[in-house]
Amino acid sequence: MNILLIGSGGREHALAWKISQSNLCTQLYIAPGNPGTAQCGINIDISPQDIQALQNFCLETDVKLVVVGPEAPLVDGITDAFRNENFKHIGILGPSAYAAQLEGSKAFAKKFMQKYQIPTAAYFEVTAINVDKGIEFLQKQKAPYVLKADGLAAGKGVLIIEDIQEATQELKNMLSGKFGKASETVVIEEFLSGMEFSVFALTDGKEYVLLPEAKDYKRIGEGDTGLNTGGMGAVSPVPFVDETMWHKVKERIVKPTIAGLQGEKMDYSGFVFFGLISVNGEPYVIEYNCRMGDPETEVVIPRIEDDIVPLFLDAAQKTLQYQELKTTRFSATTVMMVSGGYPGDFEKHKAISGLDQVTSSMIFHAGTGIKDSALVTSGGRVLAITTLGADFRAAVKTSLANASIINFEGKYYRTDIGFDL
Ligand code: AMP
Ligand code: GLY
Repeated sequence: MNILLIGSGGREHALAWKISQSNLCTQLYIAPGNPGTAQCGINIDISPQDIQALQNFCLETDVKLVVVGPEAPLVDGITDAFRNENFKHIGILGPSAYAAQLEGSKAFAKKFMQKYQIPTAAYFEVTAINVDKGIEFLQKQKAPYVLKADGLAAGKGVLIIEDIQEATQELKNMLSGKFGKASETVVIEEFLSGMEFSVFALTDGKEYVLLPEAKDYKRIGEGDTGLNTGGMGAVSPVPFVDETMWHKVKERIVKPTIAGLQGEKMDYSGFVFFGLISVNGEPYVIEYNCRMGDPETEVVIPRIEDDIVPLFLDAAQKTLQYQELKTTRFSATTVMMVSGGYPGDFEKHKAISGLDQVTSSMIFHAGTGIKDSALVTSGGRVLAITTLGADFRAAVKTSLANASIINFEGKYYRTDIGFDL
């Protein structure tokens, strides 16, 4: 079977690496992919946003399964486009645009959680019409104050502010266009304090299969300081997510969420990413995403021993059966090497060397490109160095040893992934 994977980051390289190992995969195509995915299949130069061109490509090359990596094409309706009569024979892994609002609209997700009694922070939804009520709600909260742009804002739409005056001002700024259309509606939330972690379910909208949990490290600086990034590293498994916690997560969060997908008649094939926080041992949902995480995928996928293509097909065809995945007993850690200056301005096209000297780690390409036949940096997050080890400490050590061998001008990475575990 020919398979098309959409996206171009480290997540997609990890998925491509896994898909290409399946006996069911005849030819893997990646649109647009990166120099890493080119080692697993054929990159094709089509943008994830060009749904029509992707559909034409599927017909021309007899693709039978489409796997969507990032959220943008889902929110834009790629799955709905594949429900058209001419494409019914092609399975697509990714929810409909309506269901993708669980990620695309914070207010939509909060209403869903409230309706299905899924534990989450208390909230109030504000638009220009009820600003006064919003300020009242804000004043009843304890500091710090959490303000979220309703729509997708490239990971920048969440503000956590200590001072009430400043929070009130920011609420007004958001409503008057700080994040454009994305913040015409703002969700004010109660602040939850605890340890964050992520859980992933593959679902067909009725049944689900759980993937290994992970924890990512979002801040640029050591000790979780400085600006937020797309993710500087991740570990799986997460030591504090024990059997008791898994039981609570399944019963209170995963099962009611899947029941909610059915209750709302959502066309949902694909991943549900539960961004969770443990508050004194009790799990709450911070956010949903309708895709896998990045860099979480770079630690979750290498821990799965089963072939994932049959599961992807079952989820796409809505014939999934509950099962426990076979996973390795080893811990996985990934350390993200980024361009100097990231997440602010950074320079691209720096030559990358040393990859041929890496041993005992897997390298997933995130932001790399080819210039004059040489491998160069092309993004903020450049390479994810993943290692399987006896525990996360051993795995981090090996990833760091390899990160020190790989070179490009301005390279930066955190050396403390897992420091808080
Ligand atoms: P989100 O985009 O909703 O995942 O928010 C981004 C980050 O902000 C999360 O990963 C948390 O670290 C933090 N955050 C969001 N909502 C809350 C909350 N209600 N309480 C505490 N921290 C939060
Ligand atoms: N690493 C967090 C995310 O993928 O949204």
